Amino acid sequence: MNVAKHTLLLLIACCQSLLGAVDVVEHVRAHPAGDVPFSLDRSVFATDTRDLPIGVFDSGIGGLTVLEALLTLDVFHNETMKPGADGVPDFAGERFQYFGDQANMPYGNYSSAGRTDYLRELILKDAIFLLGKRWFDPEAGAFRQDKPPVKALVIACNTATAYGIDDLREALKAWELPVIVVGVVEAGARGVLAGHDQGAVGVLATVGTCASGAYPRVIGQTLGLAGRSVPLVTQQGSPNLAGVIEGDPSFPETVPERCAVDARELLLTHAQSVGAAPLSTVVLGCTHFPLVQEEIDRAFAALRAQPQFRPLLAETLRYVNPAEWTARELFRELAAARLRAREAHGADRFYLSIPHPLRRDLPLTADGGLEKDFKYGRQPGRLEVEDTVNVPMTRARIPATTRALIQRRLPEVWRRLAE
Ligand code: DGL
Repeated sequence: MNVAKHTLLLLIACCQSLLGAVDVVEHVRAHPAGDVPFSLDRSVFATDTRDLPIGVFDSGIGGLTVLEALLTLDVFHNETMKPGADGVPDFAGERFQYFGDQANMPYGNYSSAGRTDYLRELILKDAIFLLGKRWFDPEAGAFRQDKPPVKALVIACNTATAYGIDDLREALKAWELPVIVVGVVEAGARGVLAGHDQGAVGVLATVGTCASGAYPRVIGQTLGLAGRSVPLVTQQGSPNLAGVIEGDPSFPETVPERCAVDARELLLTHAQSVGAAPLSTVVLGCTHFPLVQEEIDRAFAALRAQPQFRPLLAETLRYVNPAEWTARELFRELAAARLRAREAHGADRFYLSIPHPLRRDLPLTADGGLEKDFKYGRQPGRLEVEDTVNVPMTRARIPATTRALIQRRLPEVWRRLAE
């Protein structure tokens, strides 16, 4: 494809996505009662929102790694808000509402399908769900309107942050909602800044996150604003690793096999930058990857032993887990906005999306998910149609392999999940 045609297609895609976001903003304005699909009642935000829950969303269950970080962070004194651990989790006084858009994931593959416009609409819909009151009760087979809204939004998904955080901030401004937004990409960039030396930075993420260019851009901005030299950032987009970690049977590789491939690909790309400094920092830029940091590190260690790759890697690699930095960022933002809870009411809530059970026309796979061509072929702008509904996430509704992973690796989340 020639450059002019490519630029034109990019421009068209960009305009389409902006129009999609405008549609959603107008749709919310047109339905102030918050009782129809993709709407919310903005009047609840006119009163004190401090004791509302904190919303966290992801394309699926991967964002539970971010929630685990939020539940366990202890790097501030809760009373004084000064840095330093005090033995009490920093968000002990808060409650959370988690949403995983499991039926519409992986988000990381919408860009390869040429459908980032639809992805951007999905991201706004995720936020609207958490800000609204409407959810689907599968026992009753009907929608209910009694979910509490949230006072803050954590975009736990790297891909969703990369494609959607600007739209979301614009939308909140247009709706005049005093809601905080924190995304994993900006937080991850601060994590890079916190310990960066002279080396290059590697980013392991989804294909979509890499295609967006968000990490190189935001890392450059963050370090540049801090007066530091901007490092070379080399990215590797993995189409498979998240699925392999979840134990998805459509990906037959093992975790060590896939980590070996991705680590090698990252170094091969890095080698193409003539005179590049060795990689000294690796950003785990996908929700799932911190779960397999040891396997990733073993893969790099094996490559370091090979003469071809040795000059490309520092002696030790520093890993940045954006989840941890997201938790710190959220604490600071809540404190600055004076939105820390006075007292937490009720339990944490968990939701995930499933294909709409009352629709008979949806093409489904053997295991009940949305069929791939349908999922990635949808157009934005049809806000009266719901292909998926959001239901309580229970242990039983989580796919078996992922359930085992959560139980083993995310104990605070597991404890809070209902049977
Ligand atoms: N949660 C996504 C991310 O962090 C990974 C899974 C997906 O592609 O949906 O980018």
